[in-house]
Amino acid sequence: DWTPDSFIETTVSELRQKVGKDKVVLGLSGGVDSSVAAVLLHKAIGSQLTCIFVDNGLLRKNEFVDVLESYKGMGLNVIGVDAKQQFYTALKSIEDPEAKRKAIGKTFIDIFDQESHKIQGVNWLAQGTIYPDVIESISVNGPSMTIKSHHNVGGLPDTMKLKVVEPLRLLFKDEVRRVGRALGIGDHLLSRHPFPGPGLGIRILGDVTEEKVTLLQDADYIFTQMLRKEGLYEKIWQAGVILLPIRSVGVMGDERTYENVVALRAVVSTDGMTADWYHFPYEFLAKLSNEIINKVKGINRVVYDISSKPPATIEWE
Ligand code: XMP
Repeated sequence: DWTPDSFIETTVSELRQKVGKDKVVLGLSGGVDSSVAAVLLHKAIGSQLTCIFVDNGLLRKNEFVDVLESYKGMGLNVIGVDAKQQFYTALKSIEDPEAKRKAIGKTFIDIFDQESHKIQGVNWLAQGTIYPDVIESISVNGPSMTIKSHHNVGGLPDTMKLKVVEPLRLLFKDEVRRVGRALGIGDHLLSRHPFPGPGLGIRILGDVTEEKVTLLQDADYIFTQMLRKEGLYEKIWQAGVILLPIRSVGVMGDERTYENVVALRAVVSTDGMTADWYHFPYEFLAKLSNEIINKVKGINRVVYDISSKPPATIEWE
């Protein structure tokens, strides 16, 4: 019978055997999978594990600092890397969604490679790959932010030459969460909505700039906070705000404004392959729209995306 505790016990002893006295590096994303993989490895091999958490400048508001603190609080040996400007530079003037993904993926590999060189004598690369990622090649899901799937440049980066260890590769998401819970990881990490590897980079339609990221982070923060406050966060599979590449006319006091439009996206789903838009009460939408327009300078219009997947996708890019 599969139980989280028996899985942990078996995996810990397998990991110890496999890795021995070697050193392991792991990239943390803030998501459930990489966090559970890290804590599991840490339980098995302690300080032989070094984690790298990269701030790509495309995370949610306050996310990097908050999540880094949680990781440290769990005793993980984690290096936080502020690489925001490198990502913004790599993304400069790129408008095509796939080209943005490639630029983000390549920059991530470069930084990860560079940082893991600073750790003496690493021989293993650990990844939070889970079973759906293993069969991902046949899915219509977006590519996940694993080191491999974003590796699309000539010449193998050095981290790619490492031996790979993927302790969660036979688990489904709900099992990963149960293992995480049994390992004592808090719900603030385990119950989070999925968030794409390229982050806000694919929720800013068109080219990405630091100013647009800040604007979107502020609107997204208001949305997320209100979902939590109204007890809606757990009912929704994934939610976010999209910054549209158009401006529209508005009026504030006696002034005519000409500002940004954001779209809200919230869906229910079981696996992300199909999804339906979430039927918010009108009162919630009204309150949220007011709050965003009043609080975020530069946004004068909010629309709600009522498309299901298929034929639409969850993300807009
Ligand atoms: P779509 O937009 O294809 O998204 O309906 C399905 C799920 O995949 C996520 N997604 C991504 N995740 N890298 C990721 O790690 C990506 O490039 C990517 N694109 C989409 C999306 O957030 C949703 O959960």
